Amino acid sequence: MRSPFEFFYALFLLSLALLPLPSLASVIPPNSRAPDQRAQCRKTTVAILGAGVAGITAAQSLSNQSIHDFVIIDRNDYIGGRIAHTTFGSKPDGSGPYTIEVGANWVEGLGSEGGPENPIWTLVKKYNLSNAASNYSSILTYNETGAVDFTKLFDEFEDAYAVTEKEAGRYLREKLPDISMRAGFSLSGWKTKKDMKKQAVEWWEWDWETAHRPDESAFVFGISGYNSTFYRFSEENMYVSDQRGFNAFVIGEASTFLKPNDSRLLLNTVVESINYSNDGVVVHNEDGSCVSAEYAICTFSLGVLQNDAVAFTPPLPTWKQTVIESFHFGTYTKIFLQFNTTFWDPSTQFFLYADPKKRGYYPVWQSLSLPGFLPDSNIIFTTVVGEESHRIENQSNEETQAEVMEVLRRMFPEINVPEPLAFMYPRWGLEPWSHGSYSNWATGVTLEMHHSLRANVDRLWFAGEACSKEYFGYLHGAWFEGKDVGERIAALLAKERVSVDRKGSQTTWRIDR
Ligand SMILES: Cc1cc2nc3c(=O)[nH]c(=O)nc-3n(C[C@H](O)[C@H](O)[C@H](O)COP(=O)(O)OP(=O)(O)OC[C@H]3O[C@@H](n4cnc5c(N)ncnc54)[C@H](O)[C@@H]3O)c2cc1C
Ligand SMILES: *[C@@H]1O[C@H](CO)[C@@H](O)[C@H](O)[C@H]1NC(C)=O
Ligand SMILES: *[C@@H]1O[C@H](CO)[C@@H](O)[C@H](O)[C@H]1NC(C)=O
Ligand SMILES: *[C@@H]1O[C@H](CO)[C@@H](O)[C@H](O)[C@H]1NC(C)=O
Ligand SMILES: *[C@@H]1O[C@H](CO)[C@@H](O)[C@H](O)[C@H]1NC(C)=O
Ligand SMILES: *[C@@H]1O[C@H](CO)[C@@H](O)[C@H](O)[C@H]1NC(C)=O
Ligand SMILES: *[C@@H]1O[C@H](CO)[C@@H](O)[C@H](O)[C@H]1NC(C)=O
Ligand SMILES: *[C@@H]1O[C@H](CO)[C@@H](O)[C@H](O)[C@H]1NC(C)=O
Ligand SMILES: *[C@@H]1O[C@H](CO)[C@@H](O)[C@H](O)[C@H]1NC(C)=O
Ligand SMILES: *[C@@H]1O[C@H](CO)[C@@H](O)[C@H](O)[C@H]1NC(C)=O
Repeated sequence: MRSPFEFFYALFLLSLALLPLPSLASVIPPNSRAPDQRAQCRKTTVAILGAGVAGITAAQSLSNQSIHDFVIIDRNDYIGGRIAHTTFGSKPDGSGPYTIEVGANWVEGLGSEGGPENPIWTLVKKYNLSNAASNYSSILTYNETGAVDFTKLFDEFEDAYAVTEKEAGRYLREKLPDISMRAGFSLSGWKTKKDMKKQAVEWWEWDWETAHRPDESAFVFGISGYNSTFYRFSEENMYVSDQRGFNAFVIGEASTFLKPNDSRLLLNTVVESINYSNDGVVVHNEDGSCVSAEYAICTFSLGVLQNDAVAFTPPLPTWKQTVIESFHFGTYTKIFLQFNTTFWDPSTQFFLYADPKKRGYYPVWQSLSLPGFLPDSNIIFTTVVGEESHRIENQSNEETQAEVMEVLRRMFPEINVPEPLAFMYPRWGLEPWSHGSYSNWATGVTLEMHHSLRANVDRLWFAGEACSKEYFGYLHGAWFEGKDVGERIAALLAKERVSVDRKGSQTTWRIDR
């Protein structure tokens, strides 16, 4: 039963995001801010904080609505945020290293004939980024003694999942309080108990996608999230291995509205504090510069918000802080190895390892040494998430390499596995501009609470992957949120302009059309 308090609380939250703010501004007296505080700052209509998918899409959305006066600020020296690549190993023809993606790598859910298309897929096609389908049936299974076929457990899992997803739908329709994914699995008959093979299969099916364990994940909203991406679009995933880097599409889209060296893009600029009120937002940067804006859009990751990496003045209200601390931000780590030979099956994409002692211990291995990926590269990578990510982030490369090599030698006891020529992994949890990889819906977070994550506070708006109730965790979630916030702010600015024109009076805000 929903209590009246919850009902009014939800109404209150909705009003925060949906009421036109200028009407609120007119009843709240302006702040007694020092008049010269803003005077020294660069003035703009909209300050966009972050040049990832959400920030760049928000800027494009504003441009599309004829709002051209904005400033985009990012601490990195590139456009793309969590779509990030690096160089790795060397190409067999000696032409230099490979480009590999340390962050987002897949377009997840493409679209179907006559149905909606994932906007990221549209853009990947527009920029002709090379990609190939991940075939999750192309898999071999292992344990500590070598190859052991436990693929029948995938079918067992699928049968249970079919029950689980329907049950989650019933919970949603009947408005039952959410439970954990662990409870959801157990109720549908999927119990891993002490079976390490079952635990490896469950990790492959759940943790690998969400970067969280089932007991940390919400049942109803976890399944809803899966349904939104994979049933609304499609169940296909395309792995992007374009040597320009996956972020080439973000740079390409940015160049549709930014000139080369556009003064509206401030890279290498670290935002330190965000001072917001009902009459504007002042952003202070580490280099002493500041930007004063009518509206600001904060697209910093949930990890950045959870770690107090940026100061808000006044502090964010309790309703906002509550959901920031309640929603989850996971860490997902790809560990890359290049060898002098492809000693694993050269036509298989995936290799699943069930460690005898530890669930999630280097479980999934993916070969890139295949047509459509990085053929003849002899590159394979393994992935860990969550606690394992944090554990290895606190290890030296040598320590982690030794663990990884021991696992490979267990998986392939009949082969004399050589030492790798190259070894590398990113440390997402330690990146000060991300503090992890992507969000996941935590058990106990309601729809109303999640709404508070994207709701504005005065003239400070929020966007980014975690703000999407349907597509949290994904690139397309960041894209839809960026588009939406741009449209909302453009609508507010249009209203303000009309009211200023009507009064025929001056305004402190210059609206650049
Ligand atoms: C390892 C990994 C794997 C992933 N795999 C996939 C995948 O396969 N498919 C998929 O769809 N999604 C995947 N994702 C998720 C996807 O990358 C994100 O959902 C998306 O990129 C988020 O975009 P965003 O604009 O919301 O945030 P971000 O890309 O984080 O953009 C925010 C920007 O804010 C900047 N910033 C932060 N703090 C400051 C500051 N103080 N001052 C100035 N600038 C600051 C950051 O530099 C960043 O550029 C993955 C993510 C990771 C990390
Ligand atoms: C933030 O604004 C308030 C008034 O609105 C002002 O008193 C304060 O000094 C500002 N803080 C910063 C860090 O700019
Ligand atoms: C902006 O407009 C272009 C051209 O119509 C369109 O392709 C693009 O998707 C729009 N972007 C956003 C974020 O609305
Ligand atoms: C697209 O990329 C492929 C290789 O990835 C290339 O062969 C092809 O010519 C490209 N097409 C266009 C239109 O750029
Ligand atoms: C996926 O891999 C399986 C197992 O190797 C194979 O039978 C199937 O044809 C592959 N699917 C596609 C679409 O290539
Ligand atoms: C997810 O999709 C399945 C299949 O269409 C459906 O039966 C189920 O009700 C959906 N669950 C949720 C939570 O949306
Ligand atoms: C952009 O800036 C770089 C470095 O400051 C400079 O070399 C380049 O010529 C500039 N390009 C344009 C088009 O102004
Ligand atoms: C691994 O597989 C071998 C061969 O089937 C089996 O003897 C062994 O018990 C398995 N290990 C575990 C921990 O189940
Ligand atoms: C691991 O963490 C400890 C304590 O924070 C730190 O002193 C140490 O340098 C870290 N080690 C590595 C390899 O990051
Ligand atoms: C790979 O390197 C190992 C030494 O680590 C060597 O014994 C082996 O012959 C090499 N294989 C190839 C195909 O070059």
